[in-house]
Amino acid sequence: MAASIDHINTIVVVGSGTMGLGIAQVAAMGGFDTILCDIKEEQLERARKIIESNLEKGVARGKVAEDDAKAALKRLGTSTDLDVALESADMLIEAVPEILELKQDLFAKADRLMRPHAVLATNTTGLSITAIGAATRRPEKVIGMHFFNPVHIMKLVEIIRSKATADETFAVTEAVSRKMGKETVEVNESAGFVTSRINALIGNEAFRMWEEGVAQPEDIDKALKLGLNHPMGPFELVDLVGLDVRAFSTRNLHENLGEMYRPCQIILDLVAAGRLGKKTGQGVYRYDAEGKRIPGSATLP
Ligand SMILES: NC(=O)c1ccc[n+]([C@@H]2O[C@H](COP(=O)([O-])OP(=O)(O)OC[C@H]3O[C@@H](n4cnc5c(N)ncnc54)[C@H](O)[C@@H]3O)[C@@H](O)[C@H]2O)c1
Repeated sequence: MAASIDHINTIVVVGSGTMGLGIAQVAAMGGFDTILCDIKEEQLERARKIIESNLEKGVARGKVAEDDAKAALKRLGTSTDLDVALESADMLIEAVPEILELKQDLFAKADRLMRPHAVLATNTTGLSITAIGAATRRPEKVIGMHFFNPVHIMKLVEIIRSKATADETFAVTEAVSRKMGKETVEVNESAGFVTSRINALIGNEAFRMWEEGVAQPEDIDKALKLGLNHPMGPFELVDLVGLDVRAFSTRNLHENLGEMYRPCQIILDLVAAGRLGKKTGQGVYRYDAEGKRIPGSATLP
């Protein structure tokens, strides 16, 4: 059965961590009945509190109308009963951890339980959409929707077509993203898509310049912000994203795209030392108890 945006009323978001909760928020704000699922009840409770707080802040800042926030919260349900949620939804957006077998199992189950018109989207950062789609009998309805953190603030969704994704699946996903208030770009499946691939190169180069003594991280960050108009410097960004996350995605790029993407040794050394970024209090920079960067705190591992 052909999928069209008119058939998409209920969206099930699976995984209520950093990304899933943000996706559920923008789905509900976009007018979709939204079911946020997780295996852990406490994660769902945490997610609901964060969404409520995000919406409250949005209202306080005049970015969200109070009635819209209330209506979105009414449209948002949470559940640990994945089977029931899948049976009732027209679209899946998956945001469980980045493990291929976990995503394939979930997609195989969604394929068995969801209605024939349902579209199955994954928020994977680097896994093959074609490999995820191969776990289903409807690979033409499987697609990548790459959101950015924090989802309710970041404007972009990279929509990734696998080798098998049908045009109508792309069209539905684009229309859903627009209803969520997002801009989209169309990308054919390739390691790192557009954003992670370019970012890995900029990040690696910044680390090399630091290692070679070309400039210190604070000056490299300042140069990219004020000279090239980047909203954040490469070291500020990697500390926010997490050095472990960056090392993982750069390794994947290196395996798939070659030598140019080899993760530089400093990132690997920082990860080995437990300096994972803001979340551990130290990455490239050190952070105080309130998460504020301490000036002059960048040290090589
Ligand atoms: N964090 C980012 O900046 C970012 C950005 C873009 C894409 N992604 C991708 O999004 C996905 C999720 O990342 P995250 O950072 O939100 O992870 P996270 O660890 O914050 O959240 C994952 C959630 O999935 C739940 N979960 C685990 N197994 C499950 C299962 N079988 N069924 C239902 N729920 C299950 C966990 O309890 C947890 O709440 C990953 O594929 C990641 O690569 C992350």
